[in-house]
Amino acid sequence: MDPKLVKILARPLPRYTSYPTAPHFNANVGTAEYDRWLSALSPDARLSLYVHIPFCDTLCWFCACTTKITRRYAPVGTYLSHVCAEIDAVAERIPNGVSVSHIHWGGGSPDILSTRDMARLSDTLRSRFIVEKDAEFAVEIDPREMDEAKIAALAQAGLTRISLGVQDFDPKVQTAINRLQSFEQTRAVVEEFRNAGVHSINIDLVYGLPHQTTESGRQTIEAVIALGPDRVATFGYAHLPNRIRHQRLIDNESVPGIHDRLALSQMMSAHLRDAGYVQLGVDHFCKPGDSMASTPLRRNFQGYTTDTADALLGLGASAISRLPQGYVQNAVPIADYQRRIGDGGVATARGLAFTPEDMARAFAIETLMCELRFPASELCREFGELGVAIAREGERLAAHASDGLVEQVPDGFVVTEKGRPFLRALAAEFDAYLDTSKTVHSTGI
Ligand SMILES: C[S@@+](CC[C@H](N)C(=O)[O-])C[C@H]1O[C@@H](n2cnc3c(N)ncnc32)[C@H](O)[C@@H]1O
Ligand code: SF4
Repeated sequence: MDPKLVKILARPLPRYTSYPTAPHFNANVGTAEYDRWLSALSPDARLSLYVHIPFCDTLCWFCACTTKITRRYAPVGTYLSHVCAEIDAVAERIPNGVSVSHIHWGGGSPDILSTRDMARLSDTLRSRFIVEKDAEFAVEIDPREMDEAKIAALAQAGLTRISLGVQDFDPKVQTAINRLQSFEQTRAVVEEFRNAGVHSINIDLVYGLPHQTTESGRQTIEAVIALGPDRVATFGYAHLPNRIRHQRLIDNESVPGIHDRLALSQMMSAHLRDAGYVQLGVDHFCKPGDSMASTPLRRNFQGYTTDTADALLGLGASAISRLPQGYVQNAVPIADYQRRIGDGGVATARGLAFTPEDMARAFAIETLMCELRFPASELCREFGELGVAIAREGERLAAHASDGLVEQVPDGFVVTEKGRPFLRALAAEFDAYLDTSKTVHSTGI
């Protein structure tokens, strides 16, 4: 690849799961704003609920998630009581009539919850909110922690989609990231969920892990395809040992460089496409019949989603909410979160109130990341003079046309297949907050 393009890919950039991105949230937004924004929701608004369970029982050394390792259940049970208290407090603040179309439990590993606490969390959500009959209910799980009773408890709670962490099946890679997980173990969990009536399965993979090679990556992707998941996410490993201390347990020398990362990512994409999967956005794939293939794609903190709810409410430590007026984030340390819930029912520590410019830029960035196009005409139509100014900035993309990353079309630009791995770099052209000298991001692929 042209060294100029490699340099673009190697640039540390946000993943644009939000705009403005989380490092720009600040303490000017707190509980007062959250209270106001919740009570201003329209009674016919539809909500998406995200519950964060920040616990795992072993540490994967590559992990960048907000989680804490515990071998005891007591802290998990205590935490869950606080989450239930937060659910009560938030539900009290929203107008009657607001309904819930999506529920997502993420982490950490929500499967660490006991079957009793799974039922308690689900019952609390369903008793405090109007959950629509055909609402989606997805849970992220670590297949190493699953047993029949937990699978039955999740199915009983109305689970519609399960998201399993796999990362890589090569024992050498697994040893280097402290995560031993066999194919057989994973297949058994997939089958048990299917037998329990949960037919929508997502698998997470990571490329760029220590000791990964295109050959080992190929074996992993073939094994994953054999499991027949409906969706696959292939995340680029975010190796940030300066910020994430436990990643220092991984030998830097064993982490593939930018050329190998690109080769791994392209190999995985090609195998998934050859197996009939549709590629979406930067790193998601789905079967042609999956709702993701036919519904407009959106970007949120979990990556790509079909969720079109009017607001996303995040519950639990570190969880982020997106309301029409802006973002709010709960306190990250579990003790701080629990203290705030005890004091006032909610735990907002920071956030960001959207300016009209933020909204116009967010629209441009989300459209690029999801639909692979820069919507110049829509910007002008929907955001007036501001939109016209940002549409004009779109001309910056013309510089990428000569490299074949984008093509100019009458109403803006479209990103080519060659340009897909560069989506974060293209989106960064419209990020007014970007200062890579201050915040730490992973490489653009
Ligand atoms: C909350 S975990 C998934 C559920 C469960 N804890 C597990 O690991 O099986 C979310 C996903 O984030 C991805 N992830 C975690 N750390 C990452 C990193 N440093 N770089 C890229 N992806 C990462 C992994 O693919 C992981 O499956
Ligand atoms: S990758 Fe999943 S299981 Fe491993 S530490 Fe991170 S959140 Fe926990």
